[in-house]
Amino acid sequence: MYNEIDLDRIDLNQGPPQEEPKRQYYYMAKCREWARDFERGNGRRPTFFIQTFGCQMNARDSEKIQGIMKTIGYEEGDSAKADFLLYNTCTVRENANLKVYGRLGQLKKQKKENPDMIIALCGCMMQEPDVVEKIKKSYRNVDIIFGTHNIFKLAELLALKLFSGAGSGKMIVDIWKGTDQIVEELPNERKYFFKSGVNIMFGCNNFCSYCIVPYVRGRERSREPEDIIAEIEGMVADGVVEVMLLGQNVNSYGKNLKHPVSFAQLLRQVEQIEGLERIRFMTSHPKDLSDDLIDVMRGSKKICKQMHLPLQSGSSRLLEVMNRHYTKEDYLLLVEKIRRAVPDISLTTDIIVGFPGETEEDFKETMDVVKKVKFDSAFTFIYSRRTGTPAAAMENQVPEDVVKERFDRLLALVQEVSAERTGRAVGTVQDVLVEERNGQDTSLVTGRTSQNYVVHFAGRPSQIGSIVPVRLDESRGFYYMGTQLAD
Ligand code: 5AD
Ligand code: SF4
Repeated sequence: MYNEIDLDRIDLNQGPPQEEPKRQYYYMAKCREWARDFERGNGRRPTFFIQTFGCQMNARDSEKIQGIMKTIGYEEGDSAKADFLLYNTCTVRENANLKVYGRLGQLKKQKKENPDMIIALCGCMMQEPDVVEKIKKSYRNVDIIFGTHNIFKLAELLALKLFSGAGSGKMIVDIWKGTDQIVEELPNERKYFFKSGVNIMFGCNNFCSYCIVPYVRGRERSREPEDIIAEIEGMVADGVVEVMLLGQNVNSYGKNLKHPVSFAQLLRQVEQIEGLERIRFMTSHPKDLSDDLIDVMRGSKKICKQMHLPLQSGSSRLLEVMNRHYTKEDYLLLVEKIRRAVPDISLTTDIIVGFPGETEEDFKETMDVVKKVKFDSAFTFIYSRRTGTPAAAMENQVPEDVVKERFDRLLALVQEVSAERTGRAVGTVQDVLVEERNGQDTSLVTGRTSQNYVVHFAGRPSQIGSIVPVRLDESRGFYYMGTQLAD
């Protein structure tokens, strides 16, 4: 399930080539030699374990890492015994960082028992210089650190470690700051054989005043449409029926290409791919959502009726301080336009509670938008102060108890409106892409509708990967119970 690369043709007697991705193929071949020696010596292949924190981008990055690890001869194993253990980190909120430090503390014992084990860290948190300094000082058991821009270099960094002796104690740190480099044609694995994320762009230019992402993921870079189409065509040939186009702000896709292409234009091209049945995308910034995109969605049979449209706050005053470039009224109008074009679209959102200076009036504006829009679901976050962002330096931070009280009120409202929205689909028949066997009751399978609602119904594992009509009988908050109508 990953791009096969013929490593046998690589001559290891020559030095590594300079150009990518050939340079990485060379190091993959070198690591594979090492893995084969390991297998001969130990009677088993070396194992890897990857733990992914954070968003869909990280999930996709981890699939790429997994593809590299399998190509070089490692196999997936248990975290407690892994020869190579990697945390792909997130730093969007402070909690995410604390989790990683906690895990690293726990690993100290495991590494003592197995000194040859390699511990690696990558992802957004590693793009913060303070974090790397802290790890260098307090977590000497870490072997390799790399960032969000140079994931493709994993084999090279691993080779450096493997051939200097895993027990040598030398920490390899390779973090890149700004770069435009996008390396195509590397191996990658998919978690599901029938659906996959596809990066269409990397980075973010928006600098919302609370957000650390632009500092750790760098400036916006779009992939060439031909590369995206070729990747999806390859996936479809391999059994994929649904893709999720990924970008921090997909609505500004293509602006920095030599021959600019809009997101709506890209969608039109993706739609033409034969055999592809469903297209999703995230995330959409309200400020960049074009009429053209709404038009494409209106006319499309493949684009799913689902949109994630982060609101962040309902207060126009706060939205300005957040640097979001839209008002409460703009947002409400946009929702109206989208719902007029695609009436049964499911809308989800992100909301931050307790942004510096948030008053009760500001908060009530947020509650008002939730009541008016009636989101299908909303991710609600307590504001987290991220060093280096403009909001972290603001003096009027909201006291914790006030934030907590508002957060609870918002959560209750979100649950109420989302139950009302999802209740409306009861009795309808929906196309459901069957995704897995139900974890608790194995006579059931679980799938998703075009609106991304989860549905459980009596079915067979052999249906996984196919789309079947299911009547939604009952809504139970986050999911439905349904009945399949025909095969
Ligand atoms: N505090 C709380 N939530 C945040 N997000 C981003 N930065 C912060 C922060 N400092 C939320 C936003 C974004 C989502 C991915 O994470 O709502 O849309
Ligand atoms: Fe962060 Fe704003 Fe960029 Fe989203 S659009 S990643 S919230 S800076």
